[in-house]
Amino acid sequence: MKTLKIAVLPGDGIGSEIVEQALKVTKAVCKKMGHRLEYQEGLVGACAIDAVGNPYPQETHELCMQADAVLFGAIGDPKYDNDPNAKVRPEQGLLKMRKDLGLYANIRPVATFPSLVHKSPLKEEIVKGADFICIRELTGGLYFGRPQGRSEDGNTAYDTCVYTREEIERILHLAFKFAKGRNKKVTVVDKANVISTSRLWRQIAQELSQEYTDIDTEYMFVDNAAMQIIQAPKNFDVLVTENLFGDILTDEASVITGSLGMLPSASIGVHTSVFEPIHGSYPQAAGKNIANPLATILSVALMFEYAFGMKKEADLIREAVTASMEAGIVTEDISENDQSYSTTEVGKWITEWIEKE
Ligand code: IPM
Ligand code: MG
Repeated sequence: MKTLKIAVLPGDGIGSEIVEQALKVTKAVCKKMGHRLEYQEGLVGACAIDAVGNPYPQETHELCMQADAVLFGAIGDPKYDNDPNAKVRPEQGLLKMRKDLGLYANIRPVATFPSLVHKSPLKEEIVKGADFICIRELTGGLYFGRPQGRSEDGNTAYDTCVYTREEIERILHLAFKFAKGRNKKVTVVDKANVISTSRLWRQIAQELSQEYTDIDTEYMFVDNAAMQIIQAPKNFDVLVTENLFGDILTDEASVITGSLGMLPSASIGVHTSVFEPIHGSYPQAAGKNIANPLATILSVALMFEYAFGMKKEADLIREAVTASMEAGIVTEDISENDQSYSTTEVGKWITEWIEKE
């Protein structure tokens, strides 16, 4: 019997409600497939600032380092969003976790669900069948470059975008490897016509593409990519890009699926991988039992696949999610008619479906 050790970090807002459902699903899958599950909860985000004054406490970091995988909810709190002068911010916790765990790659699959296609603000014929993966560099670029700050008089602010050859090479290798197992196409998204880090990206991508002759490598400026993603999403297979561009493009890509509440993600790198929905903490819905738990449940599927190498378990979860949508057991953001279900009801239905399977 294999023991799966998971660090569970619910975070803020709807985090605890959606993670609770994802954990129920994890338990059901482990029971069904004969794995032993060990998990322990840790603090991260605004709730960690409130409790111990630090958005990513050392204790949480140790918990993550000792685990085989981290299941993460969401972080963020309006009281910090509206205070640009706050000394500590919940987001710093997430960035520190990414940096300290060496999570240089964020993988966000964008796939449509047949029963949801009509929910997309885009035309059905454009989105139907779209299926691609965004690979976002996660520990470099403007998010981490220094210097960053303000001039003494407070009237000038600056950020620095830095990328090294090593950082660019490792993420591009990963993108090429993903493409090998898919439709063998990589789109490298940059702004090489204007910024110098992008020119280094493009140069290195051109060099590496020589090693991956079976892959069709395409280059696209980020402004054009923003347009192509909604105009012709089916043309993408693996899209790889730097940190900030990836942040923006993946929110955009989520509209293809019909709801931001559907997209899971995996952050992988040097130490323990982290699995989390791409949406935020949705504070307006916190405590109301209405948040869509599917992105987090689908993140558990990614966890089984990537962290534990258990594809069967991952597929079982995806089938259960599809079944719940086909049966109309969904939260209000994706419901068809007046009939919608609560976060816990959706989690329970999926859990029971897995137990019965
Ligand atoms: C994301 C989020 C984060 C980011 C925030 C919460 C810091 O938007 O994971 O996409 O910008 O990376
Ligand atoms: Mg984002």
